[in-house]
Amino acid sequence: MMSSEEPAIAVTGLRVVRGAREVLHGLSFQVPKGQITGLLGPSGCGKTTLIRSIVGVQVVAGGEVTVLGRPAGSAELRRLIGYSTQNPAIYRDLSVLENLRYFAAVLGAPKTDPARVLAEVGLEGAAHQLGGTLSGGQLSRASLAVSLLGSPRLLTLDEPTVGLDPVLRKELWELFQGLADRGVTILVSSHVMDEAARCQRLVMLRDGEILADDSPSGLRARTGTEDLEQAFLRLIEERQAA
Ligand SMILES: Nc1ncnc2c1ncn2[C@@H]1O[C@H](COP(=O)(O)OP(=O)(O)OP(=O)(O)O)[C@@H](O)[C@H]1O
Ligand SMILES: [Mg+2]
Repeated sequence: MMSSEEPAIAVTGLRVVRGAREVLHGLSFQVPKGQITGLLGPSGCGKTTLIRSIVGVQVVAGGEVTVLGRPAGSAELRRLIGYSTQNPAIYRDLSVLENLRYFAAVLGAPKTDPARVLAEVGLEGAAHQLGGTLSGGQLSRASLAVSLLGSPRLLTLDEPTVGLDPVLRKELWELFQGLADRGVTILVSSHVMDEAARCQRLVMLRDGEILADDSPSGLRARTGTEDLEQAFLRLIEERQAA
């Protein structure tokens, strides 16, 4: 699918070294605007490292990352990107609403934003509960609420549905789709392949390399299987045979 529109994210030849090892080996791909792009791959393949590079908090060894037309890490991008980290960062000794008010103030987001995002993630009932007392699912939603403050144009979500029950996962994916329908670009990582079908675009990573960058239907056609998990395994086999 070709689009004349500028992509939300353009990555070219990205290399990242962590510790003594190179963990991303020259990645190039683009993330289209206003869609959900899934970043999929097994544990340790480099999803978090890639998201950190896009958000601009990762030292990179080479290549270019352009986000919304600006170099990753640019100051202007801070208000345009929402980032939900893999380990939810919520103050334990503040209530959910206090957390949201604090982060809204830091971001310079509108005063009405905490109530808005609380409703968006369906967490109104826990507004006055301390961060430290939230259940896993509530914590994920609180973290997502923080990333929605300031109405970012790009949302980067690092495994936001890990450990959640199927009902909650479905609700969250509906929320993501609703945001995308309103024009928000979403990059979401997961190692659960059944979530891949909910994305419009898939970037599959393995050992710091891109195995596929395609739509779910394109990937099904190319690998000759309906099951995206099977498709991923076939791509690995193909790569190994080559
Ligand atoms: N601070 C660090 N120092 C050294 N190596 C690191 C560091 N952080 C990550 N790594 C290594 O970089 C590689 C990629 O890690 P990354 O966290 O990006 O993977 P991931 O795909 O997000 O995994 P997961 O699904 O488990 O979250 C792994 O081999 C990991 O061990
Ligand atoms: Mg990770």
